[in-house]
Amino acid sequence: MDAYQAIVTKRDTRSFTSEPVSGDDLHRVLQAGRMAGSAKNQQLNRIVVVTDPGDRAALAGCGRFADWLPACPVVLVIVVPTEGGKAFDIGRMAQNMMVAAHGLGLASCPVTFHHEAPLRELLGYPEDHEAPMGVGIGHPAPPAEARPSAPRIPLDELVDWDRWQA
Ligand SMILES: Cc1cc2nc3c(=O)[nH]c(=O)nc-3n(C[C@H](O)[C@H](O)[C@H](O)COP(=O)(O)O)c2cc1C
Repeated sequence: MDAYQAIVTKRDTRSFTSEPVSGDDLHRVLQAGRMAGSAKNQQLNRIVVVTDPGDRAALAGCGRFADWLPACPVVLVIVVPTEGGKAFDIGRMAQNMMVAAHGLGLASCPVTFHHEAPLRELLGYPEDHEAPMGVGIGHPAPPAEARPSAPRIPLDELVDWDRWQA
């Protein structure tokens, strides 16, 4: 699969088999995250890899739309300094890891952590850091019902040329 195909065919998937993610695959996914650019190359993001079933169950309680995490073998939690951490950098890192995972045949989905206190308690990062987002990855399981991809707006609605067109 070339880079373009990997990008345009990647869907966010929340159904996983119980097969663990191999160490080699996880290493490649993490390397893809590591190579993401960052503002001024500050590289402020850190990743906490969570695989323990009890910890993943606890993570499910840290987000409003995170009930699929107990069935997701690996959760990559992105931790950043509260002052200086950048949403754009988090997004680049997360998407790098998800596209790399897709290229390896792995499913993935972003997850938002809305509840900071229990997440901090679980992972132990300091008061001057936060972890707004994570990425779950694993081997894809067929969903109970076929789920069409969420539609995207047409390109001509997305893109303006030269000036904003209200
Ligand atoms: C910033 C951001 C936060 C998201 N948070 C969650 C989340 O908390 N839980 C979840 O299941 N999906 C989450 N998603 C996944 C979106 O629901 C998904 O990208 C969207 O529905 C498109 O899915 P598709 O690529 O499969 O069509 C998040 C996506 C983004 C970009």
